[in-house]
Amino acid sequence: MYRQGALLALGLLQAMPFALAAPAPQMGDFGENSGAVGGISPPIPTVTAATGALRGSEDLLGGRTPDPDTSDPDESAIVENPQFVNGQGADSKLGLYLDFDGIEVPQPVRGGFGATDPGPRTYDYERLNPDLFAPPGTDNGAVEQAVWPLGLSHNRLGSQPGAGWARQQNTDQLPSATAMAGVDMRLAPHAYRELHWHTANEWSLVLKGCARVSSIDTDGASFVDDVCAGDVWFFPSGYPHSIQAFGQGVEFLLVFDDGAFSEDETFLVSEMFLRTPVSVLAKNFEADPSAFKNIPQGELYIFNGTPQPKEIDKTQNLTSSAGSLSGTNKSQTYHWSKQEPFQVPGGSVKILDSTTFPVAPNFAAALVTVQPGAMREIHWHTTSPEWNYFLQGSARVTVFKAPEAARTFDFTAGSVGYIPQAASHYVENTGNEDVIFLEVLQAPVFSDISAAQWLALTPKQVVQDHLKLAEGVWESLPREKQFMKTGDKNMTAIATAAVGNGGSGSGSSSSSTMASPSYTPSAAAKRPRDIKDDGVQETRRKVTFFA
Ligand SMILES: *[C@@H]1O[C@H](CO)[C@@H](O)[C@H](O)[C@H]1NC(C)=O
Ligand SMILES: *[C@@H]1O[C@H](CO)[C@@H](O)[C@H](O)[C@H]1NC(C)=O
Ligand SMILES: *[C@@H]1O[C@H](CO)[C@@H](O)[C@H](O)[C@H]1NC(C)=O
Repeated sequence: MYRQGALLALGLLQAMPFALAAPAPQMGDFGENSGAVGGISPPIPTVTAATGALRGSEDLLGGRTPDPDTSDPDESAIVENPQFVNGQGADSKLGLYLDFDGIEVPQPVRGGFGATDPGPRTYDYERLNPDLFAPPGTDNGAVEQAVWPLGLSHNRLGSQPGAGWARQQNTDQLPSATAMAGVDMRLAPHAYRELHWHTANEWSLVLKGCARVSSIDTDGASFVDDVCAGDVWFFPSGYPHSIQAFGQGVEFLLVFDDGAFSEDETFLVSEMFLRTPVSVLAKNFEADPSAFKNIPQGELYIFNGTPQPKEIDKTQNLTSSAGSLSGTNKSQTYHWSKQEPFQVPGGSVKILDSTTFPVAPNFAAALVTVQPGAMREIHWHTTSPEWNYFLQGSARVTVFKAPEAARTFDFTAGSVGYIPQAASHYVENTGNEDVIFLEVLQAPVFSDISAAQWLALTPKQVVQDHLKLAEGVWESLPREKQFMKTGDKNMTAIATAAVGNGGSGSGSSSSSTMASPSYTPSAAAKRPRDIKDDGVQETRRKVTFFA
């Protein structure tokens, strides 16, 4: 089988003369630092034979060599002309989003705290994660790692050329994410995820393309359906199932209710046959032993298939006396793509839980869109951690964990997130396009507590005795849950209003340390209005951010 695969691959390459004629790939420029580092100044001299020794002499032990010249310019760790972005000079507790995208070398400095970084690094990571590199001053203590970009996951390629791949996140990547794990899987046109089953429950959102799925339950009732992007399937633990892409291929996201779940450890039909004595197979499947001489000699996993009939005809829909699950409340698919979202200023939300999809009694999901400048409001989930996945855009999330820890994480398309049960968080759009993300809970019904609604429904006297908010803030809090809060698309405009011209512009400083610009809270109130005034914004602007 593998030999056949290799021959097929060769055929494929020959069919692509363009690919063969292309020049050898060049290494990319990923924004690495360059120049002397760690006492080595590249480029190092080229030699044609090995020279020198692997170890140095004992004369280099401390106390045996002359003291180094610590004022030698070659030993300088001063960063000349560091570049800063808008908002970096603002008070660190204001915690503005720092857009490092426009500059070459980001610096871990915020509101005068931190210092420049002259050392080895790859700037692209810091551009993608400004809130990790220069955290808001409100971050504190330790919160478990809450983000995993699937771009850092090992990708397992299918067993046959061109068939597909899958990459996953489980507790190997995010050790705190014990309640759920995820897989991103791609099947090429007509390719299969091999017939299999597993110990965890499987909830899936189709991301692109269409697939035919089928399964049976313990009574022998059968199920078959076709799903396309935005639709969901659910296979209870232990239920064997099939997934085959249609002619345009498919990519889907799988969520399992077991943080240690591994896509590599499922029960595969090929392995079940391979690991059973042939005489037993013959007895069980009522055939001569010779009937099994062509069974696969290893996992098929993700492999190519023949085109399925376009319609779910009689050859595709087989039933026993237990009948079909199709159309019943045990139906294993939900055509979520057809559900209109609940729209609110700043974005939209649509919910799928056991209320309308009873076959999945403990999966509750929300597909959320957040417009630029807006954010999914500060909230928490009462009984479940949240596993989430970003389909589009860039966002940041601060996870607050009792008693006094908070950490801010940045997310982009393809990132997985995990937020502990009851930990408050928001999802703020930090980019120029809509953020689309999926929240998944282990709960029968999707629910959350909105921080704003809570305080709106708490007597003013109680709120004020605690928080001493500026006059008018409590009054303007809406008593209905908003899900979303709108805001300025330019997330650092407030910085200029707040700090004037005090060193927040890029390239504004020529020294290695950054002066802390003075912050005048009253200036925030004078910020020109760029949001349509509804009376509420005006009161909010009077809030002093910190004492
Ligand atoms: C499969 O057949 C059953 C009847 O045996 C029917 O109820 C069900 O709707 C069919 N499924 C599909 C997807 O056509
Ligand atoms: C599903 O439908 C059956 C038959 O109509 C009913 O007895 C059962 O209570 C329903 N279950 C749920 C979870 O709604
Ligand atoms: C955001 O606002 C600041 C201050 O007004 C300005 O300097 C900056 O260029 C703006 N950024 C964008 C992307 O418009």
